[in-house]
Amino acid sequence: MNFDFNEEQKAVQIAARDFAQTELLPGVIERDELQKFPTNEVKKLGELGLMGIMTAEQYGGAGMDTVSYVLAMEEICKVDASTGVCMSVNNSLVCWGIEHFGTEEQKQKYLIPLASGKLIGAFCLSEPEAGSDATSQHTTAIEDGDNYILNGTKNWITNGSTASIYLVIAQTHPELKHKGINVFIVEKDTPGFVIGKKENKMGIRASDTHSLMFTDVKVPKTNRIGEDGFGFKFAMQTLNGGRIGIAAQALGIASGAYERALAYSHERKSFGTEIFNHQIIQFKLADMATKIDAARLLILKAAYLKDQHKDYTEAAAMAKLFASQVAMDVTIEAVQIHGGYGFVKEFHVERMMRDAKITQIYEGTSEIQKMVIGRELFK
Ligand code: CAA
Repeated sequence: MNFDFNEEQKAVQIAARDFAQTELLPGVIERDELQKFPTNEVKKLGELGLMGIMTAEQYGGAGMDTVSYVLAMEEICKVDASTGVCMSVNNSLVCWGIEHFGTEEQKQKYLIPLASGKLIGAFCLSEPEAGSDATSQHTTAIEDGDNYILNGTKNWITNGSTASIYLVIAQTHPELKHKGINVFIVEKDTPGFVIGKKENKMGIRASDTHSLMFTDVKVPKTNRIGEDGFGFKFAMQTLNGGRIGIAAQALGIASGAYERALAYSHERKSFGTEIFNHQIIQFKLADMATKIDAARLLILKAAYLKDQHKDYTEAAAMAKLFASQVAMDVTIEAVQIHGGYGFVKEFHVERMMRDAKITQIYEGTSEIQKMVIGRELFK
């Protein structure tokens, strides 16, 4: 077993770390406070090749593997998990989905600008009454000559207002249940497509999360991805990879909080010594470091399986389940180690604790991950 990274993987890790420290860190507290989307920062991420890391170079991407993607995600999310989720959705759900299942025409028209970071994408599966129960799609897509007509509402959409290209999942043949669902590429300026309210969130506040409304939105048939009825399978397969990205986001939040707590424990003195010298603090840090390492190994295993074209459904769900719990545990302890300073914004760890929670909810709650793992165990 080889635990070393290759030169390309090490280079992307260093590039993402430098970018996070120089470009993301200075404004991260303000963006969180003001719920300000990192427009310039995401543009620069695109220029670095981090908005289409896994996409082939011929389609505007960096042509790297999933391990590289995980390493970059961790570094970005150590500093700014809001920027991280924008990057994750664009990479694993939107670009990966179009690259693997789209037509050549769709790749030329949509994937190239998305993977090169010129445009941002969004993935629209959740609805007011279809979150975990994703087969219960109420948004409809009715055939009409060379088009489909979309009607319905989507909820909790990451990159909701900043995206230009939306992958929209909708029901065409309700009698076929999940086998009647389709997925469409919808352009932002299509008549009848309205961006609804922005959510005022507890965490990842700089990412823009919106509801979206579709009223008689006409989408050409050429914008359907895959065969008629492929939409649910498309969503499930892209989400398998998405879960690796969100697990890496959770890992970044945890390792960012841990590094801050470790540094603080060497600065802060109590009872005549640095608090690191108190065994209770060392025990906390030892637990945090061990959990982070275990999460990292699970995530890298899932990424490795994906890169080897092996089944990674269970590994991705395990990685997300575990890493998101680690993110919660570690950030809570990081705040505790900081004491009162952990409760104020300047020390970053309170934001990380708030950001950690969403990793247990989106791209499938922890309970959904257990369902996925359970089903795989009994296959
Ligand atoms: N990988 C591949 N295929 C899968 C799959 C997976 N992980 N899970 C299910 N499928 C397939 C099944 O094999 C089945 O295929 P067949 O018809 O060929 O048998 C089909 O999909 C239907 O599956 P189920 O019968 O298991 O469907 P279900 O309704 O019982 O449950 C579920 C499926 C796993 C619970 C699914 O609904 C699910 O994953 N829900 C969570 C949805 C989710 O993650 N939403 C996140 C929104 S996106 C987001 O958060 C992005 C963002 O903005 C950050």
